[in-house]
Amino acid sequence: MIHMENATKRYADTVAVASLSLHVEKGQVCVLIGPSGCGKTTTLRMINRLVEPTDGRIVINDIDNRHTSPVELRRSIGYAIQSVGLFPHMTVEQNIGIVPSILRWDRTRIEARTTELLALVGLDPVAYSGKYPSQLSGGEAQRVGVARALAADPPILLMDEPFGAVDPLTRERLQQQFMDIQRRLQKTVVLVTHDLDEAIRLADRVAVMKAGTLVQYDTPEELLAHPASEFVRDFVGTDRALKRLSRIPATSLMKPVTSVREEQLRDLSGTTNLPRYVWVVDDANRLVGWADTARRSAGANEVKASRADVERIAIRETATLREALSRMLGHGVRSIPVIKDDGQLLGEITLHDVEEATAE
Ligand SMILES: Nc1ncnc2c1ncn2[C@@H]1O[C@H](COP(=O)(O)OP(=O)(O)OP(=O)(O)O)[C@@H](O)[C@H]1O
Ligand SMILES: [Mg+2]
Repeated sequence: MIHMENATKRYADTVAVASLSLHVEKGQVCVLIGPSGCGKTTTLRMINRLVEPTDGRIVINDIDNRHTSPVELRRSIGYAIQSVGLFPHMTVEQNIGIVPSILRWDRTRIEARTTELLALVGLDPVAYSGKYPSQLSGGEAQRVGVARALAADPPILLMDEPFGAVDPLTRERLQQQFMDIQRRLQKTVVLVTHDLDEAIRLADRVAVMKAGTLVQYDTPEELLAHPASEFVRDFVGTDRALKRLSRIPATSLMKPVTSVREEQLRDLSGTTNLPRYVWVVDDANRLVGWADTARRSAGANEVKASRADVERIAIRETATLREALSRMLGHGVRSIPVIKDDGQLLGEITLHDVEEATAE
């Protein structure tokens, strides 16, 4: 889809990008990462010809991008820039509608598209369409920036630190939204970030850059398992094993688990071989808490369920092993239940299994 061949950009005595070759497959997310000034933005901007390469070539869908006019390229490639770059004198709706109006979509179509995109990035269209950028928080403005990049439904998206200017919590939510959107829309994306965790989370392939060159281009798993040089090793840091966990779905280590229904707890006389601690579910198999089966009331075989805040003690089936681990460490527990969105208990993950998985 995007094929860069020895792309080079020189400015007077600076070489911003030096003979960079990079191939991005259709529908994949390529994340560029590296120290400040290593040429990430320049690389991105050569793709849509906001920067013209001094040397080398860039082929998009088998067509050399020099044969496509910059105007045409910018229509077919969505671009979310480092500093959001919303026009201050235009409303949110007008900002999102810029490319569609260049394409001469009619008003109703642009309005419908704006509404759809605002909802997609999690902003209420009624509340936000008429606002001006100065009335938005940093995170909201970034979401409008992403919506604008998606406006004309371009097959390619270039994103320069799109989630850079927000607090870690908002950033995580935006990343989650991005992954949900990407799963549905399957764009070809080149995204720049300074944040290694973000790269590992979002990328199909990570391109690590240093002083205008590409030093490693690999899947996040490969990058973490086999850094190609001392530079990359230092760059990915000492907690590689932990970072790898964020690429592994929690369900991969999930095991079946013994659960009992709340009403069964009233009389456990008929049950044998129950583990000491069991998860308690309701009639629809939704997790409601846990019980200590050793604490039977004298004479009766009744056990009291300890109700729990399920959102705090359980993880969703979409969580990663890293989330599972940090939840276990955060609560000081050795196992954690996995639930579906509707609360149904699926199984559990144990600390022991996570430790084993990181040991090799
Ligand atoms: N228009 C320009 N004129 C001269 N030098 C430039 C120009 N644009 C970029 N450079 C230089 O090229 C190099 C790469 O810049 P670039 O913006 O691509 O870096 P970056 O990796 O995006 O950095 P950051 O992470 O800080 O955004 C830098 O040394 C920069 O100073
Ligand atoms: Mg930059």
